[in-house]
Amino acid sequence: MFIQVPKGTQDILPDDAPKWYYIENKIREVLTKYGYQEIRTPAFEYTELFIRGIGESTDIVTKEMFTFPDRKERSLTLRPEGTAPVVRAYLENNMDRASKVVKLFYIGSMFRCEKPQGGRFRQFNQFGIEVIGTKSPEADVEVIMAALEIYEKLGLKNLEIVINSVGCKKCRVDYIQKLKKFLSNKKDLLCLECVKRYEKNPLRVFDCKKDSCQKIMETAPMITENLCPECKLHFEEVKSHLDDFKIKYHLDPKLVRGLDYYTKTAFEIVGKGLGAQNAIAGGGRYDDLVEELGGKPTPGVGFAAGIERMIMVMNQQKINWPKPKCIDIFIVKVSAENKDTAFRLLQKIRNSGLSADLDYSNDSLKSQMRIANKIGARYTAIIGEEELSKDMVTLRNMQTKEQKKVKLDEIEKELKKGSGLNI
Ligand code: HAM
Repeated sequence: MFIQVPKGTQDILPDDAPKWYYIENKIREVLTKYGYQEIRTPAFEYTELFIRGIGESTDIVTKEMFTFPDRKERSLTLRPEGTAPVVRAYLENNMDRASKVVKLFYIGSMFRCEKPQGGRFRQFNQFGIEVIGTKSPEADVEVIMAALEIYEKLGLKNLEIVINSVGCKKCRVDYIQKLKKFLSNKKDLLCLECVKRYEKNPLRVFDCKKDSCQKIMETAPMITENLCPECKLHFEEVKSHLDDFKIKYHLDPKLVRGLDYYTKTAFEIVGKGLGAQNAIAGGGRYDDLVEELGGKPTPGVGFAAGIERMIMVMNQQKINWPKPKCIDIFIVKVSAENKDTAFRLLQKIRNSGLSADLDYSNDSLKSQMRIANKIGARYTAIIGEEELSKDMVTLRNMQTKEQKKVKLDEIEKELKKGSGLNI
């Protein structure tokens, strides 16, 4: 029995890899247009970063982190998300000195020890953006628009934006009191976890997936009705810009998101008909995070999107993937004696900028042609005694089956200029 991939992880096989770079190229193209620069942070960080950044009472920190000691017993954690690492890098590299507003994007693997199921993995990939240094509601709308443009360019349809405001430190003090009061005589109806959440951070009860807790929360006081004037105005402005751009959204006062750093705007983009794991992106504003991680008070806003979930939607919606580029020329030897010439020619063709390959074995011409067909080579260049005596190859268009003799050093020219072979 051979060793298998760890639970919740998967291989991206060669047939699927082109889908990934197609998506990654689109992400880079759109985000560069919006003025974002790419950042790559390590796959693991000191655990403290996530405890402080994401919040002690969140599911991610209490149950889902892959945490391990290094050889000096310092606690490390595989990054479960990208925002806290990006803010850490922003602070550590004094990025605020270069510009007041810093706009970053990332694409990479994240790790959460969750129960694997459709659309939920233990290693998954996100792309995300972070705008650090502005409290303008326009920035909130820009990040939503950038996400939507990427989805649109990739052809995704039937997406819905769900939006809320979770207020700020100021308005939350009174609100949490209200929420606690509301829950105080319902504690024995809450699940055990929510009883703990009630003590540590009652807002998290909104995040519970259990029907019984969700039912209780339906009649709970909502944060949107308890916003301070500044948060209220900010939320009004965000909605008004969305209306202005004719971006449809659905208001959900119960949306609190699974990370504690959010302030003001919180949003998710969901794929309709995707089932339980329907959030393909989530984000919001985090105006206290930079300060919480040791920096000066600096506002921020961003989102992250799951790439596996995006591919699921694209497959479900039968979006046409671009055809992967096939090899230009497969060299076929008539006999083993032509091996050295074939090898030299192979490298020459590659040096000219065309893609080329050959079968290094001494298998029959028929078997080599079979390989050429299988890999979808556009042309085969057949080398035999007759061809070599004239410094030529027989170039065969694998689609039309037409053949033509071409001088060795003119193959590239032939392919590029177009010949009677519909090249
Ligand atoms: P999040 O909602 O935890 O937010 O994750 C963002 C997206 O990552 C989800 O909407 C989903 O598509 C994908 N995702 C999360 N967990 C899994 C999983 N186990 N398997 C597959 N996909 C998953 C964040 O991570 C925040 N850092 C977003 C953010 C950026 N907020 C502000 N800036």
